[in-house]
Amino acid sequence: MDTALVIGGTRFIGRHLVDDLLAHGYDVTIFNRGNHDDPFADDDRASHVEGDRTNDSSLEAAAETVDPDAVFDCVAYYPKDVQAATRIFADCEAYVYISSGAAYGREEIPKREGETPLEPCTPEQAIDDSNETYGARKAEGDRAVFAAAERGVNAMSVRPCIVYGPHDYTERLDFWIDRVNRFDRIVVPGDGTNIWHRAYVEDVASAMRLVAERGEAGEAYNVGDRRLVTLEEMVDLIAAQLDTDAEVVTAGPRELAAGDIAVDDYVLYREYPHVLSTAKLAALGWESTPLEEAMARSVAAHLESDRTGREHGPDREAEERVLGILDTF
Ligand SMILES: NC(=O)c1ccc[n+]([C@@H]2O[C@H](COP(=O)([O-])OP(=O)(O)OC[C@H]3O[C@@H](n4cnc5c(N)ncnc54)[C@H](OP(=O)(O)O)[C@@H]3O)[C@@H](O)[C@H]2O)c1
Repeated sequence: MDTALVIGGTRFIGRHLVDDLLAHGYDVTIFNRGNHDDPFADDDRASHVEGDRTNDSSLEAAAETVDPDAVFDCVAYYPKDVQAATRIFADCEAYVYISSGAAYGREEIPKREGETPLEPCTPEQAIDDSNETYGARKAEGDRAVFAAAERGVNAMSVRPCIVYGPHDYTERLDFWIDRVNRFDRIVVPGDGTNIWHRAYVEDVASAMRLVAERGEAGEAYNVGDRRLVTLEEMVDLIAAQLDTDAEVVTAGPRELAAGDIAVDDYVLYREYPHVLSTAKLAALGWESTPLEEAMARSVAAHLESDRTGREHGPDREAEERVLGILDTF
């Protein structure tokens, strides 16, 4: 495969994917509406096609003019998007859809492809645009991939857990980096052992390329850091990269109540562990970036940005009240 069409591609995961594909010798065409700044605008190695992926005729025109070997679908949020793309790009050598770990419909550790059931999706959910139906819609997109494979299309999906790294506009990790950068004592909800599996963005990009090159039609591949860290270990990792000390102060619901805070007011906190098995992807030869390196790049990007993530957690005054109460014991 030599040519790739990336639907999306200028913002976060897609942007890293374009970098990865260019670094691996692909001729890349980026398909988007032109609403976001395009970091590849002056890069001769990347071509551009303007269009809206929700408009089938735009995608059909791109299929005809670009005729890509591989198609990477970074902005399919509705099952109909995947149904349309797998029809329009049916003759390509590979179609890779970014699904999500949110597609899994049962809490178990770890969540495994082909074993852990996916969320069901009603016709109403399939066209709903709220966050509540995100996982169901992503799961139905996976089922569209499986159905396309049955028809002979070389379609596959990649299921990342929470993605972090440079250009992460969601600012979820930024909240924690900002806390560790500004304060010595870091309030961590729960007992510090909570785990919400995360995936470093460059590893999601390399996973997508590898799945296109080596994956099997109709298969889904989880992607997440090979080594997982707890919330407390994540704070320690950030502190090490900032070359600072962080005293982790864990606080359960009773302690947090002193600041009118609930445990899940904190981003990246999840009561029940969310862990994806990455064995199937690793069997394709995929490796993840060492955590220290991934965190170093994420912290450096944070420090260069104006992102604070502060809206993703309680304000410091409320936390000070919690720390004050804990200090009296
Ligand atoms: N972030 C996570 O933690 C996470 C976890 C699991 C799965 N995912 C999945 O990852 C994907 C999102 O990745 P990303 O935001 O990083 O993607 P991205 O490809 O970097 O950014 C969004 C891109 O899509 C383009 N775009 C948006 N709407 C479009 C449309 N209707 N037609 C054509 N282009 C459009 C945007 O440009 P224009 O606005 O200029 O069109 C931009 O280039 C989603 O499928 C999401 O479900 C994310």
